Amino acid sequence: MSEFRRVFLIVLDSLGAGELPDAGIFGDAGAHTLRSLSRSPKLFIPHLRRLGIGHIEGLGFLGAEEHPQAAVCKLAERSNGKDSTIGHWEMAGVISTSPLPTFPDGFPDEILNAFRSMTGRGVLCNKPYSGTQVIADYGEEHMRTGDLIVYTSADSVFQIAAHEDVVPLEELYNICRQARKILTGKYGVGRVIARPFVGKPGSFTRTPHRHDFSIEPPGETMLDAIQAAGLDVISVGKIQDLFAGRGLTETHPTSGNDEGMKLTSQIAGRDFHGLCFVNLVDFDMLYGHRQDPDGYANALTAFDRWLGEFLPRLKEDDLLLITADHGCDPSDNSTDHTREYIPLIASGKRIIPVNGGVRQSFADIAATVTQALGVAYGCEGRSMLGEMTDVRLHLRAKAIGAMAFSHCPYSDFRVGAAVLTESGRIYTGCNIENASYSATICAERTAFFKAVSEGERKFRMIAVAGGKNGIISGLCPPCGVCRQVMSEFCGPDFEILLVSPEGYESHTLGELLPHGFSL
Ligand code: THU
Repeated sequence: MSEFRRVFLIVLDSLGAGELPDAGIFGDAGAHTLRSLSRSPKLFIPHLRRLGIGHIEGLGFLGAEEHPQAAVCKLAERSNGKDSTIGHWEMAGVISTSPLPTFPDGFPDEILNAFRSMTGRGVLCNKPYSGTQVIADYGEEHMRTGDLIVYTSADSVFQIAAHEDVVPLEELYNICRQARKILTGKYGVGRVIARPFVGKPGSFTRTPHRHDFSIEPPGETMLDAIQAAGLDVISVGKIQDLFAGRGLTETHPTSGNDEGMKLTSQIAGRDFHGLCFVNLVDFDMLYGHRQDPDGYANALTAFDRWLGEFLPRLKEDDLLLITADHGCDPSDNSTDHTREYIPLIASGKRIIPVNGGVRQSFADIAATVTQALGVAYGCEGRSMLGEMTDVRLHLRAKAIGAMAFSHCPYSDFRVGAAVLTESGRIYTGCNIENASYSATICAERTAFFKAVSEGERKFRMIAVAGGKNGIISGLCPPCGVCRQVMSEFCGPDFEILLVSPEGYESHTLGELLPHGFSL
């Protein structure tokens, strides 16, 4: 039985959440798309704020609400790249160890020779070039000789321009399909693009018959798995190009954000079962690359307005995920993408507003989506669904997270605890050892004392995790002193979760401390 019937995964293209630790290697040290937007007077995003965008680690400048309504976190990119294709592949479960290749000096002879003999035509240009300039500069020679204009850009693309009267459209598309076959492996560019044009020398213009031939993802994606399970996989925007049409049951190309949001609303009005995967490209294409923070902020404000109408329409078994695929800081000194974390906001009637901190891969999205739909899919991502929908699993994760801060130079035994108060807050604690051994305090008491000293007096449950060198190999039940401290504030029904490697064991304080001392 699947937990959710419909998942909406909306990618705000290029909405980065700050530099990744390795951003410097990509020439992107200090990049921060969301921070740049926050400086624009045009940014007004009350709904994203209400959901909790400002609670994402490092995004406090967006404003933290007292009671966020969604689960949030930010995710690091494991793949070696920062383009849309690799970003979307990773969030769909496929991690790429090498980036899609770019050709700043043009394509090598090996490729061009194969291309010439396949097409029976010569090659002009073979350099990075502007699409309009390339037809102005080479169009006439192309018309005279029938040679094809091959050019590239800063992106991983092999573009072929040809006059519609010289190379009929179908022939150009066929040439692209043939090129796609030789552009594999280390020459596997993200897209081969047909760029037909018309007109006379001096007044050539491009036609709307551009067509993209994308490279297929190199492994099974969550889309393939969801489709194979017999569910719907609906794409809106450029998703179909990024996955070369694979794993989709229904596709809706769009002209931009407005149409994408409108289509998403329409699809939400239908009763489908599966994934609706949306890409809103304007953020990146119109504002990120063009270094226009105000334009970008306006576009995010428009999305937020749409979101305000979309959220109330979500049904009990709907899950909405809002994320990005890479950064494109509109205020840095380049028009290129930026290597950044991506934000994730998970909303729905059954979602607990937890903060998932910082996650290690975009692939956690694939693991979460497939689990939400009850589809079996193996990938390197770790699902967040349990933590987002089950308060005990969430508390378990918090306790494990708190082990990282343990100060235990004498025992090397790391303990973490997380206590949930009646007011819904969670306080974590770790063991803090001391050279004078008896001055050591346990993780559970650290958590309790933090909470009590913040004014908390009523507690719902605590999770405790521990193990030698931080490895959880068995249970870590609270010591007698900690049980006694708990009994000061909690009754016999207080729940104590003992974290195990696989899950947890649930006990009550009454069981663990049957005859506690009281005055
Ligand atoms: N410890 C806890 O943090 N909680 C317990 O309930 C039992 C013990 C810590 C204290 C010490 O730093 C380490 O575990 C080894 O005794």
